Amino acid sequence: MSRTVRIFDTTLRDGEQTPGVHITPDQKVAIAHRLKAIGVATIEAGFPISSPGDRDAVARIAREVRSCEIAAMARCVAQDIDAAADALRDAERPVIHVFLGTSDIHLTKKLRLDRAGAVRAIRECVARARRHVADVQFSAEDATRTERPFLRQCIAAAVESGATRINLPDTVGCMLPREYGEMIRDVVRFVGPHVIVSAHCHNDMGMATANTVAAVEGGARQVEVTVNGIGERAGNAALEEVAVAMAMKRIAESGVDVQQVTALSAHVAEVTRVPVQPNRAVVGANAFAHSSGIHQDGILKDPSTYEFVPPAMVGAPGHRFVMTSRSGRGAVAHHAARMGYRLTDAQVDEVYRAFIEVAAYSDGAVDADELARVIGAACGPPPNPTQELPPRDDPKRCRFEEVMLL
Ligand code: KIV
Ligand code: ZN
Repeated sequence: MSRTVRIFDTTLRDGEQTPGVHITPDQKVAIAHRLKAIGVATIEAGFPISSPGDRDAVARIAREVRSCEIAAMARCVAQDIDAAADALRDAERPVIHVFLGTSDIHLTKKLRLDRAGAVRAIRECVARARRHVADVQFSAEDATRTERPFLRQCIAAAVESGATRINLPDTVGCMLPREYGEMIRDVVRFVGPHVIVSAHCHNDMGMATANTVAAVEGGARQVEVTVNGIGERAGNAALEEVAVAMAMKRIAESGVDVQQVTALSAHVAEVTRVPVQPNRAVVGANAFAHSSGIHQDGILKDPSTYEFVPPAMVGAPGHRFVMTSRSGRGAVAHHAARMGYRLTDAQVDEVYRAFIEVAAYSDGAVDADELARVIGAACGPPPNPTQELPPRDDPKRCRFEEVMLL
């Protein structure tokens, strides 16, 4: 994997636009330190003109978080750009991120600006931002619904005025991976190698991660993501999904230490009070949970049977077994062995029958204590489990501590 793709994290800006979420400046600084530690290239710290709190958070992050680019967002408006520059004053590597809606929908319905006015505004604002900092990103908001020749005019205006990065947001999440990948490829060819083309995908059709990966395959050198995929409406492409996909499929180097994604996800969920959906990829509570007997048996024999992403790789505690009437003998026997029992096949049968009786009438999963009671009732009190666990016959078999009961 010789190619590197920059991770531009916008949890603190686009992520904070999640309905109902507010992150205090202290919390933003704490998240920014973690983002730096995990290895993102750029932290978009906020939108300074939008509130004194955001201005303060951007300024503090710019001061405290070193060796990492800090970006601040600005509309194509002089005061926004000056406020962004001011908040970024102490940053080691400041980036001003200027955006303007370029689709006809945005120009006519929202901005009431004609195309010539838009191109003029882009030129003026990008040039103004460049007078403040060396790195200016221009985002053509709603790029994916912008007529392509006009999008090229906007991009050319931004690059001629000094933009070092062009971001092509799929603002309403209307793209499919093939379409977005082709669009990125086209713009990469148009701007040439000196300008970084960036992808920014929303998840309105559940395509954000797939579109982001397609953009990387199309030549994007930067991708914009949020932790847990938080953001407006259905959210943004998720940092953890994109980084893991890039690593697992050896698409490009992201610089992200994926071992930290589970902890970072939990931290952001706690701060934002946006719980992580259980079946969410990589960081959901069920991402490494197994319920059916066939799957549990497979995991015990070799985890690669039913897991593509190894939990240890992303810092997850291990495989989790949910014990229900769909669960099998293997999981029951494994749990008994973990408690220190050495059961004969006949005893395993007996314990399993007793477990199924309990599971059949339980209104949820059978938890570890309940299963221990079932095993104890059938086989007597457990031997001291820490003394001696039965030997494993197959080196690929899960270690006892790798499987937890939910
Ligand atoms: O989704 C979007 O278009 C954005 C831009 C303002 C970058 O977040
Ligand atoms: Zn966005």
